[in-house]
Amino acid sequence: MEIIEVKNYDELSTVTADLIEKQIKMKEDSVLGLATGSSPVGTYKELIKRNLDFSKVRTINLDEYRGLAPDNKQSYIYFMRDNLFNHVNIKDENINIPNGLAEEGFEECLRYDKCIEDLGGIDLQLLGLGLNGHIGFNEPNTEFVKGTHVVTLSQSTIDANSRFFESYEEIPKEAITMGIKGIMDAGHIVLIVNGAKKASILKEAICGPITPKVQASILQLHNKVTIVADKEALSELKKTF
Ligand code: F6R
Repeated sequence: MEIIEVKNYDELSTVTADLIEKQIKMKEDSVLGLATGSSPVGTYKELIKRNLDFSKVRTINLDEYRGLAPDNKQSYIYFMRDNLFNHVNIKDENINIPNGLAEEGFEECLRYDKCIEDLGGIDLQLLGLGLNGHIGFNEPNTEFVKGTHVVTLSQSTIDANSRFFESYEEIPKEAITMGIKGIMDAGHIVLIVNGAKKASILKEAICGPITPKVQASILQLHNKVTIVADKEALSELKKTF
Protein backbone atom coordinates (compact mmCIF):
# COMPACT_ATOMS: atom_id res chain seq x y z
CA MET A 1 0.00 0.00 0.00
CA GLU A 2 1.44 3.33 -1.05
CA ILE A 3 0.34 6.55 0.65
CA ILE A 4 0.86 9.85 -1.16
CA GLU A 5 0.41 12.86 1.12
CA VAL A 6 -0.71 15.98 -0.67
CA LYS A 7 -1.00 19.59 0.53
CA ASN A 8 -4.56 20.23 -0.47
CA TYR A 9 -7.49 19.25 -2.69
CA ASP A 10 -5.92 20.79 -5.82
CA GLU A 11 -2.79 18.72 -5.42
CA LEU A 12 -4.89 15.63 -4.67
CA SER A 13 -6.67 16.20 -7.99
CA THR A 14 -3.49 16.69 -10.04
CA VAL A 15 -1.71 13.70 -8.49
CA THR A 16 -4.75 11.48 -9.08
CA ALA A 17 -5.12 12.76 -12.65
CA ASP A 18 -1.41 11.92 -13.17
CA LEU A 19 -2.10 8.31 -12.17
CA ILE A 20 -5.08 8.06 -14.51
CA GLU A 21 -3.20 9.76 -17.36
CA LYS A 22 -0.33 7.31 -16.94
CA GLN A 23 -2.80 4.40 -17.06
CA ILE A 24 -4.45 5.66 -20.27
CA LYS A 25 -1.10 6.32 -21.93
CA MET A 26 0.16 2.87 -20.97
CA LYS A 27 -2.99 1.16 -22.32
CA GLU A 28 -5.22 3.18 -24.62
CA ASP A 29 -8.22 0.89 -24.13
CA SER A 30 -7.91 0.88 -20.32
CA VAL A 31 -10.93 -0.01 -18.23
CA LEU A 32 -11.35 2.73 -15.65
CA GLY A 33 -13.55 2.11 -12.62
CA LEU A 34 -14.99 5.49 -11.68
CA ALA A 35 -16.60 7.07 -8.64
CA THR A 36 -18.94 9.99 -8.12
CA GLY A 37 -19.23 12.34 -5.10
CA SER A 38 -17.15 15.35 -4.11
CA SER A 39 -13.77 13.62 -3.93
CA PRO A 40 -13.17 13.03 -7.69
CA VAL A 41 -14.66 16.27 -9.08
CA GLY A 42 -11.26 18.04 -9.16
CA THR A 43 -9.60 14.99 -10.71
CA TYR A 44 -12.17 14.96 -13.52
CA LYS A 45 -11.66 18.71 -14.10
CA GLU A 46 -7.93 18.11 -14.32
CA LEU A 47 -8.36 15.21 -16.77
CA ILE A 48 -10.56 17.39 -19.01
CA LYS A 49 -7.89 20.12 -19.04
CA ARG A 50 -5.28 17.63 -20.22
CA ASN A 51 -7.09 16.81 -23.46
CA LEU A 52 -6.36 13.11 -23.20
CA ASP A 53 -7.51 10.61 -25.78
CA PHE A 54 -10.49 8.72 -24.34
CA SER A 55 -11.58 7.31 -27.70
CA LYS A 56 -10.71 3.75 -26.74
CA VAL A 57 -11.10 4.04 -22.95
CA ARG A 58 -13.88 2.01 -21.34
CA THR A 59 -15.41 3.06 -18.04
CA ILE A 60 -17.45 1.29 -15.42
CA ASN A 61 -18.96 3.23 -12.54
CA LEU A 62 -19.25 1.97 -9.02
CA ASP A 63 -22.87 2.69 -8.36
CA GLU A 64 -26.17 4.36 -9.16
CA TYR A 65 -29.20 5.34 -7.10
CA ARG A 66 -32.33 3.28 -7.61
CA GLY A 67 -35.33 5.10 -8.97
CA LEU A 68 -33.58 8.12 -10.49
CA ALA A 69 -33.89 8.66 -14.24
CA PRO A 70 -30.70 9.53 -16.18
CA ASP A 71 -31.94 13.09 -16.72
CA ASN A 72 -32.34 13.62 -12.97
CA LYS A 73 -29.50 15.94 -11.96
CA GLN A 74 -28.80 13.83 -8.85
CA SER A 75 -28.39 10.58 -10.75
CA TYR A 76 -24.83 9.37 -11.02
CA ILE A 77 -24.99 9.05 -14.80
CA TYR A 78 -25.97 12.74 -14.98
CA PHE A 79 -23.07 13.56 -12.63
CA MET A 80 -20.60 11.61 -14.77
CA ARG A 81 -21.76 13.22 -18.03
CA ASP A 82 -21.68 16.66 -16.46
CA ASN A 83 -18.31 16.28 -14.75
CA LEU A 84 -16.39 14.20 -17.28
CA PHE A 85 -18.00 12.32 -20.17
CA ASN A 86 -19.49 15.36 -21.97
CA HIS A 87 -16.05 17.00 -22.03
CA VAL A 88 -13.81 14.19 -23.35
CA ASN A 89 -13.94 12.09 -26.51
CA ILE A 90 -15.24 8.93 -24.83
CA LYS A 91 -17.67 6.84 -26.89
CA ASP A 92 -21.12 6.40 -25.44
CA GLU A 93 -20.99 2.64 -25.93
CA ASN A 94 -17.89 2.52 -23.73
CA ILE A 95 -19.66 4.04 -20.70
CA ASN A 96 -21.11 1.60 -18.15
CA ILE A 97 -23.14 2.43 -15.08
CA PRO A 98 -25.89 0.46 -13.34
CA ASN A 99 -29.39 1.21 -14.61
CA GLY A 100 -31.13 2.89 -11.69
CA LEU A 101 -34.52 2.42 -13.35
CA ALA A 102 -34.20 -1.34 -13.85
CA GLU A 103 -37.33 -2.91 -12.36
CA GLU A 104 -35.64 -6.23 -11.73
CA GLY A 105 -32.78 -5.24 -9.45
CA PHE A 106 -31.37 -8.75 -9.28
CA GLU A 107 -31.26 -9.10 -13.09
CA GLU A 108 -29.55 -5.74 -13.37
CA CYS A 109 -26.89 -6.83 -10.86
CA LEU A 110 -26.20 -10.00 -12.88
CA ARG A 111 -25.98 -7.93 -16.06
CA TYR A 112 -23.50 -5.58 -14.40
CA ASP A 113 -21.24 -8.37 -13.14
CA LYS A 114 -21.27 -9.87 -16.65
CA CYS A 115 -20.38 -6.45 -17.99
CA ILE A 116 -17.30 -6.24 -15.69
CA GLU A 117 -16.32 -9.73 -16.83
CA ASP A 118 -16.81 -8.91 -20.52
CA LEU A 119 -14.61 -5.82 -20.13
CA GLY A 120 -11.87 -8.14 -18.88
CA GLY A 121 -11.84 -6.61 -15.39
CA ILE A 122 -10.85 -3.15 -14.23
CA ASP A 123 -7.35 -1.77 -14.80
CA LEU A 124 -7.60 1.18 -12.42
CA GLN A 125 -10.37 1.66 -9.88
CA LEU A 126 -10.85 5.13 -8.43
CA LEU A 127 -12.51 5.17 -5.00
CA GLY A 128 -13.75 7.75 -2.54
CA LEU A 129 -14.21 6.86 1.12
CA GLY A 130 -17.57 7.14 2.88
CA LEU A 131 -17.73 8.60 6.38
CA ASN A 132 -18.82 5.13 7.52
CA GLY A 133 -15.98 3.42 5.66
CA HIS A 134 -18.01 2.42 2.63
CA ILE A 135 -16.46 1.99 -0.81
CA GLY A 136 -18.91 2.20 -3.66
CA PHE A 137 -22.14 1.72 -1.73
CA ASN A 138 -20.84 -1.33 0.11
CA GLU A 139 -22.25 -0.26 3.42
CA PRO A 140 -21.17 -1.45 6.90
CA ASN A 141 -22.41 -5.02 7.09
CA THR A 142 -21.90 -8.42 8.67
CA GLU A 143 -20.25 -9.68 5.47
CA PHE A 144 -18.40 -8.53 2.37
CA VAL A 145 -20.81 -8.94 -0.55
CA LYS A 146 -18.88 -10.11 -3.59
CA GLY A 147 -21.10 -9.28 -6.52
CA THR A 148 -23.06 -6.26 -7.67
CA HIS A 149 -26.09 -5.92 -5.42
CA VAL A 150 -29.03 -3.78 -4.47
CA VAL A 151 -28.31 -2.03 -1.21
CA THR A 152 -30.40 -0.17 1.33
CA LEU A 153 -28.37 2.91 2.10
CA SER A 154 -27.34 3.38 5.72
CA GLN A 155 -28.64 6.35 7.69
CA SER A 156 -25.15 7.87 7.70
CA THR A 157 -25.00 7.73 3.89
CA ILE A 158 -28.52 9.14 3.53
CA ASP A 159 -27.53 11.99 5.86
CA ALA A 160 -24.29 12.61 3.94
CA ASN A 161 -26.26 12.71 0.65
CA SER A 162 -28.92 15.04 1.99
CA ARG A 163 -26.78 18.07 0.95
CA PHE A 164 -27.69 17.34 -2.70
CA PHE A 165 -31.48 17.08 -2.27
CA GLU A 166 -34.14 19.61 -1.37
CA SER A 167 -36.13 17.36 0.93
CA TYR A 168 -35.56 14.14 2.87
CA GLU A 169 -38.25 12.36 0.82
CA GLU A 170 -36.29 12.97 -2.39
CA ILE A 171 -33.10 11.31 -1.13
CA PRO A 172 -32.88 7.81 -2.60
CA LYS A 173 -32.84 5.10 0.04
CA GLU A 174 -31.57 2.35 -2.27
CA ALA A 175 -28.77 1.98 -4.77
CA ILE A 176 -27.12 -0.61 -6.98
CA THR A 177 -23.44 -1.01 -6.22
CA MET A 178 -20.53 -2.95 -7.57
CA GLY A 179 -19.55 -5.55 -4.99
CA ILE A 180 -16.25 -6.06 -3.21
CA LYS A 181 -15.04 -8.65 -5.75
CA GLY A 182 -15.36 -6.26 -8.69
CA ILE A 183 -13.35 -3.67 -6.76
CA MET A 184 -10.73 -6.06 -5.37
CA ASP A 185 -10.14 -7.66 -8.79
CA ALA A 186 -8.97 -4.30 -10.17
CA GLY A 187 -5.29 -4.19 -11.11
CA HIS A 188 -4.69 -0.91 -9.32
CA ILE A 189 -6.90 0.80 -6.74
CA VAL A 190 -6.59 4.53 -6.11
CA LEU A 191 -8.36 5.75 -2.97
CA ILE A 192 -8.67 9.52 -2.65
CA VAL A 193 -9.46 11.08 0.71
CA ASN A 194 -9.51 14.67 1.86
CA GLY A 195 -10.55 16.60 4.94
CA ALA A 196 -10.35 16.16 8.71
CA LYS A 197 -13.78 14.58 8.91
CA LYS A 198 -12.45 11.44 7.21
CA ALA A 199 -9.30 11.17 9.38
CA SER A 200 -10.62 8.65 11.89
CA ILE A 201 -12.33 6.37 9.34
CA LEU A 202 -9.23 6.42 7.12
CA LYS A 203 -7.11 5.33 10.08
CA GLU A 204 -9.60 2.54 10.91
CA ALA A 205 -9.64 1.38 7.29
CA ILE A 206 -5.86 1.21 6.99
CA CYS A 207 -4.72 0.23 10.49
CA GLY A 208 -7.77 -1.39 12.01
CA PRO A 209 -8.97 -4.97 11.72
CA ILE A 210 -10.24 -6.17 8.35
CA THR A 211 -13.95 -6.20 8.99
CA PRO A 212 -17.13 -5.76 6.94
CA LYS A 213 -18.13 -3.12 9.50
CA VAL A 214 -15.52 -0.93 7.76
CA GLN A 215 -15.75 -2.15 4.18
CA ALA A 216 -12.68 -0.18 3.03
CA SER A 217 -10.54 -2.26 5.43
CA ILE A 218 -10.59 -5.05 2.80
CA LEU A 219 -8.23 -2.88 0.75
CA GLN A 220 -5.45 -3.95 3.15
CA LEU A 221 -5.49 -7.27 1.28
CA HIS A 222 -4.98 -5.77 -2.19
CA ASN A 223 -1.44 -5.72 -3.50
CA LYS A 224 -1.60 -2.44 -5.42
CA VAL A 225 -3.43 0.31 -3.57
CA THR A 226 -2.42 3.95 -3.79
CA ILE A 227 -3.96 6.28 -1.24
CA VAL A 228 -3.85 9.94 -2.18
CA ALA A 229 -4.80 11.95 0.89
CA ASP A 230 -4.31 15.41 2.28
CA LYS A 231 -2.68 16.22 5.64
CA GLU A 232 -6.02 16.60 7.39
CA ALA A 233 -7.24 13.18 6.29
CA LEU A 234 -3.92 11.62 7.33
CA SER A 235 -3.77 13.39 10.71
CA GLU A 236 -5.09 10.46 12.81
CA LEU A 237 -3.05 7.90 10.93
CA LYS A 238 0.15 9.82 11.54
CA LYS A 239 -0.39 9.69 15.30
CA THR A 240 0.04 5.91 15.18
CA PHE A 241 3.51 6.04 13.59
C1 F6R B 1 -19.57 7.34 -5.17
C2 F6R B 1 -19.30 6.32 -4.17
C3 F6R B 1 -19.08 6.64 -2.74
C4 F6R B 1 -18.27 7.91 -2.50
C5 F6R B 1 -18.11 8.17 -1.00
C6 F6R B 1 -17.36 9.46 -0.74
O1 F6R B 1 -19.69 6.77 -6.45
O2 F6R B 1 -19.27 5.19 -4.52
O3 F6R B 1 -18.45 5.55 -2.12
O4 F6R B 1 -17.00 7.77 -3.10
O5 F6R B 1 -19.36 8.25 -0.40
O6 F6R B 1 -18.14 10.52 -1.18
P1 F6R B 1 -17.56 12.01 -1.23
O7 F6R B 1 -16.44 11.99 -2.21
O8 F6R B 1 -18.71 12.84 -1.70
O9 F6R B 1 -17.10 12.32 0.16
